[in-house]
Amino acid sequence: MITNDGKIAFLDLLSPHQELESELVAVFEKALQTAGFIGGPMVEGFEREFASFCDTTHCVGLSSGTDAVRFALMAAGVQSGDIVVTVPHTFIATTEAISQAGARPDFVDIDERTYCMDPRKLEEYLEQECYRDRETGRLFHGRWKAPVTAVVPVHIYGQTADMDPILELARRYNLIVIEDACQAHGAEYFSRTENRWRKAGSMGQAAAFSFYPGKNLGACGEAGAVTTNDEEIARKIRMLRDHGQSKKYFHDVEGYNARLDSIQAGILSVKLRRLPEWNRKRQGAARLYDELLSSVPGLILPHCPDWARGVYHLYVVRVQDREGLKKSLAQANIDTGIHYPVPLHLQKAYESFGYKQGDFPITEKIASQILSLPMFPHLQAEQQSRVVNEIRRFLEIPEQVGPSPDSILFELQRRTA
Ligand SMILES: Cc1ncc(COP(=O)(O)O)c(C=O)c1O
Repeated sequence: MITNDGKIAFLDLLSPHQELESELVAVFEKALQTAGFIGGPMVEGFEREFASFCDTTHCVGLSSGTDAVRFALMAAGVQSGDIVVTVPHTFIATTEAISQAGARPDFVDIDERTYCMDPRKLEEYLEQECYRDRETGRLFHGRWKAPVTAVVPVHIYGQTADMDPILELARRYNLIVIEDACQAHGAEYFSRTENRWRKAGSMGQAAAFSFYPGKNLGACGEAGAVTTNDEEIARKIRMLRDHGQSKKYFHDVEGYNARLDSIQAGILSVKLRRLPEWNRKRQGAARLYDELLSSVPGLILPHCPDWARGVYHLYVVRVQDREGLKKSLAQANIDTGIHYPVPLHLQKAYESFGYKQGDFPITEKIASQILSLPMFPHLQAEQQSRVVNEIRRFLEIPEQVGPSPDSILFELQRRTA
């Protein structure tokens, strides 16, 4: 989006809504004409479409991604007092949901290149910090004296965690795997063990998605979903989202009010049809940044292993003087973000867990260096060129001579056509 003042927004939420306005308004009109605001065909339709998009048999629409993580854990069998292992480099919703499921979050560090859970750190954690109870064979944490029952890898910034070794460890230690796919709608992972590409959201017992407006697939309000191939998990989540009802006014358990409303579901169906194209545009913009920034010393670019096809929810670079670069881009009217500046184990909310600086050094290091550049499907080549030129100026690198960003984009499109 190019605004009159020449500002480059971090995220353009206006253009996609302007483009789709008539289809989106039609969703409102349909809801008004039928007064179908809760449940019904728009919710069921979206659930079918999103399950198919994720290569799963079920999708259960919910009111948020946070509830999706929470209900996925509960329905898959996590009990009050269990330990659920995740990463400290994620949005706090991941660990809030674990706590809300009655469990205690614990952490393993991330991989320095992918920023996702490092499977070797998970293995060390399971081997060195946990023990099996002699009588029951259950896994317990040595220090916390509580059963370790689940792991939540987070597909951060739109790229999946390395799932093969995580799933293998989960099999070995009998752990539930819930993918936090809240930032990864449409991301793919090449499973070396299965020799095929798999969709984010189809690999664990269940997966959580957020449709918060800024996500690759975003509602016009709050929304989320769980995807799963497990019929029983889907059934339990349908009950949990609707006051524990198995049928109207028959409450098998105490549940929650956490349904996906029909207007949001209808909006999500409209946008889902555009998601593959939007993701391709994000990937194109990421390739252009890669190309334009590849010769800039002092900058670490996103790493995309050959087993990943990321969807670039965010394009995150690393730089030593992050605060300086952020300020300098702001002065040039370019918005950026930091996802996330304070690792979860150092947040005040988790003070009582007793973690300290140095416990998860990779997360701590990258948290001080990361900067998210403008990234959205409607981002234009000349805007990216301006961002890159400002970065070069800040790092005191002479203006690039050579092909223009437009010609690089053209060449990239020609190569992938
Ligand atoms: C990694 C991650 N997990 C969970 C969530 C929670 O989703 P929601 O905001 O829809 O509750 C988010 C949303 O930002 C997220 O980024």
